[in-house]
Amino acid sequence: MTPLIDTHERRIKYLRISITDRCNFRCRYCMPSGGIEWLPHESIMKYEEYLRILRICIPRGVEKVRITGGEPLVRKGLADFIASVKSIDGLRELSLTTNGVLLPMQAPDLKRAGLDRVNISLDTLDRDKFSYITRVNAFDQVKEGIMTALEYGFSPVKINVVAIRGFNDDEIPAFAALTLDRPVEVRFIELMPMGCASRYGEREVISSEEIRRIIEGRYGKMAPVEYNHGPAKVYQIQGSQGKIGLIGAMSEYSFCSTCNRIRITANGSLRPCLFSDDHIDLLSPMRKGISDIELNELIEEGVRLKQRSHGMCMGQHVAPHQGCDALMNTIGG
Ligand code: GTP
Ligand code: 5AD
Ligand code: SF4
Repeated sequence: MTPLIDTHERRIKYLRISITDRCNFRCRYCMPSGGIEWLPHESIMKYEEYLRILRICIPRGVEKVRITGGEPLVRKGLADFIASVKSIDGLRELSLTTNGVLLPMQAPDLKRAGLDRVNISLDTLDRDKFSYITRVNAFDQVKEGIMTALEYGFSPVKINVVAIRGFNDDEIPAFAALTLDRPVEVRFIELMPMGCASRYGEREVISSEEIRRIIEGRYGKMAPVEYNHGPAKVYQIQGSQGKIGLIGAMSEYSFCSTCNRIRITANGSLRPCLFSDDHIDLLSPMRKGISDIELNELIEEGVRLKQRSHGMCMGQHVAPHQGCDALMNTIGG
């Protein structure tokens, strides 16, 4: 099988699949308080449809698959789906990004099904601020979810912190301290002005560079850890068990040049870049009965749309996907 390669010679090795737009949280930078109009059930991809795409992409070089949402743990039948994905030859790693609240209940089944890793979102270590930002009173469950993930041996467990000035900038050292004696990777993500987050201004974005300075001011110079083609630059505080990741979504152009990922949205579009509206609908043609050869060609067409780099950065703080209300939850970040 010929590998999936884009027009800038980047090999596609990582596929992110959003399996639902639904979520049991309403994070302020992601969703409006009243929720959004969910995609109608019939326009959400069936597990079998994701599997069909994966059975094409994995033999063509996709090694890593990440399941995202919305909140993927709210979708029924996830453990069986995970087991089916894991049975595809050639897959190296299957991971999931979650808000963590259902992990205490589901971690055992997910582990049994073969899930390798989890990334868990947690934007504050303060119970009241947690209820404010997520609009749900679930701090203790998420904390328990992180502990359960560690207990069940998902490794490494990564904690995603969206950094927002005026909300959690004062907690950066405390988050960094979590890595001192735990094998977790705490990642600070620059706030991206997408969907509901476009209500925040550039002032609220805390750059990775500023975060690094704050952490190093407190814990001394961090050692860089080998680059892994992801958006995160990874560091380690001297003598710590865990790692610190800095995701410079707004300030760093450099990771586009080695970007190896594409996305499938909850309603079955292939999106070659998080920041671009370019996409190819795979679901309608699949439901109209296209052959595997035709599906391969459509996927190639989607990969060809992948641009050299996105046009968004600090100083040009504009929201992509204008007019869309809550896209992060359909694309899956
Ligand atoms: P790993 O496989 O553990 O490296 O995970 P990941 O960082 O790819 O996935 P995760 O779902 O935890 O995403 C963390 C943050 O990175 C989210 O805010 C994503 O929106 C963001 N992110 C992921 N991929 C990209 C990308 O290609 N471009 C940009 N700008 N941000 C990305
Ligand atoms: N900017 C940065 N990160 C975001 N996430 C959701 N919306 C945004 C945004 N506007 C994060 C979530 C989750 C990951 C998938 O994306 O917190 O950790
Ligand atoms: Fe749900 Fe994630 Fe959006 Fe928060 S950021 S509302 S957890 S999809």
